[in-house]
Amino acid sequence: MSQNIRALSARSYRERTLFEALLEMARTTGTPSHAQLRVLGEQRQVSPAALLGAASFYDFLSEDNRNKQAYVCKGTACLLAGGQEAVRARLGAQFSDEQIGEATCLGHCYRGGAYRIGDHCLDAGADPDSEQGAGTIPFHCHTPSSMFGDNGDEAEVLYQRISQTASSTPVLLLYELSISGLRGRGGAGFPFTNKLAACRSAPVRQKYVVCNGDEGDPGAFSDRWLLEERPQRVLAGMLAAGLAMGSNMGFLYVRAEYPLAQRRVAEAIETFEQTPAFVQAGFRFHLVRGAGAYICGEETALLNSIEGLRPEVRTRPPYPAQAGLFERPTLVSNVETFAALPWILENGGAAFAALGTEASTGTKLVSLDQGFNNPGVHEVTMGTALEGVIYNYGGGFRRAVKAVQVGGPLGSVVPVEKITRLSLDFESFAGEGFLLGHAGIVSIPQDFPMIEFLRHLFTFMADESCGKCLPCRLGTEKGRRMLLAATVDSPIDSIAFDDLLETLELGSLCGLGGGLPLPVRNILSHFRSELADYFSLEGDHE
Ligand SMILES: Cc1cc2nc3c(=O)[nH]c(=O)nc-3n(C[C@H](O)[C@H](O)[C@H](O)COP(=O)(O)O)c2cc1C
Ligand code: SF4
Repeated sequence: MSQNIRALSARSYRERTLFEALLEMARTTGTPSHAQLRVLGEQRQVSPAALLGAASFYDFLSEDNRNKQAYVCKGTACLLAGGQEAVRARLGAQFSDEQIGEATCLGHCYRGGAYRIGDHCLDAGADPDSEQGAGTIPFHCHTPSSMFGDNGDEAEVLYQRISQTASSTPVLLLYELSISGLRGRGGAGFPFTNKLAACRSAPVRQKYVVCNGDEGDPGAFSDRWLLEERPQRVLAGMLAAGLAMGSNMGFLYVRAEYPLAQRRVAEAIETFEQTPAFVQAGFRFHLVRGAGAYICGEETALLNSIEGLRPEVRTRPPYPAQAGLFERPTLVSNVETFAALPWILENGGAAFAALGTEASTGTKLVSLDQGFNNPGVHEVTMGTALEGVIYNYGGGFRRAVKAVQVGGPLGSVVPVEKITRLSLDFESFAGEGFLLGHAGIVSIPQDFPMIEFLRHLFTFMADESCGKCLPCRLGTEKGRRMLLAATVDSPIDSIAFDDLLETLELGSLCGLGGGLPLPVRNILSHFRSELADYFSLEGDHE
């Protein structure tokens, strides 16, 4: 069935993908009706059941959200800031309870409170009628020059230069990228040129470049900043990669919770299509708007989503570079990874490699939440001491803090006393039993109970599990229930809980179920005494 849908979807995507057709149908009520699904099924020769399976997966297409008018952010930073009940109460003056839903996360973590009305996301305190409701994301550069340029009229020159270099000296372009040592910024840190080279060498005419702009990790908003403020850099990076590997088509998947980013990307695509570089390169961009599903950040679920399939994770192999979008070789990379490419091509791979550490080169965008005195997106050189990032660049904490969550819910939880041991690079974090991930940093206040934090983590994962594999589908829900039921009088059996973590870690198909145990174990081992009352056997947590 999937193969058939993929083939049919591939045939028609040039005008509108199956997924986009689903979104279009849901425009008025928020949910496609069964009658609409039947009509679409007939038009596209796809079973309505398969369409319902896909549509019902997404937050913003599901029945639960029918006719919702406003959404309150329930991301981690907003939870820890503690102001969202007040936001809901204020919205209650304008909307009924049934018209107010929840969204995760709107990427306003630097404010610690946000909501969405229609196509606009606003800061907690903002007037919904004000054009200025969201302001802009504060950006601070702590490197000699920013990798992401400025906001000037650079797009045309940029596109022109890249398409000339890529068409006249593609091998040089590949060489510069390979000596840069650039590693993916989406979390896993995979060497960028390995994927690019695999796609380039695939003996297939049609190949695709896909930019992963799903940034679902609560606490991260650096991709949002790039998509809103530097979309031309992202397009230029995709163009460079596409031309280098022999592709003429780039898809940008931008999550539903970022409506402004979607508009800015659409404008940037229009500008690109008006430059001579567009004709010279013969390269097209296609913006795909998400519909609310954290798992769509996982690269194979994202590909399924674009194709109009239920966005479950695919088994690998084959990897996307072998058989990705519509079964063709596909380079999937993160927004920040692509946005770094123009700087590398302008300044040389060696200049990029000279920044940072030997294995983690270049600069990194770090998102600091509202718990810092100087919140926002900070560009720092890889290898910078975490202490410097937090206390010098971030200005330290606004309140007493006991830990920082780094890299989102699948990253790590670092107790404050360990901050001095870490630097901002992949190896330093791994060496201490942590994970850098996408490097969003959320501060956990001293008075926020860790048992509540664990409940929040498991609830998020149980809600977002795609359900494809058993350990995660059942395990995240089981863990959530155990944690919600835990009391001082009825503590969790530590051995059973540890078994659950091991099952998730060893048996899960992707990094959602497989990655959850790391931050949970960080918490259990570093906050053992605080949690002792909730777990029955002291000493079994590690
Ligand atoms: C549950 C899950 C969620 C993910 N979410 C994102 C995301 O929002 N953005 C992203 O770029 N990568 C995300 N990833 C990683 C992608 O699968 C993939 O590795 C990445 O997009 C590759 O780009 P990169 O090499 O530039 O990092 C996620 C992975 C998992 C397992
Ligand atoms: S680990 Fe979870 S999210 Fe990943 S494939 Fe399995 S069920 Fe889906």
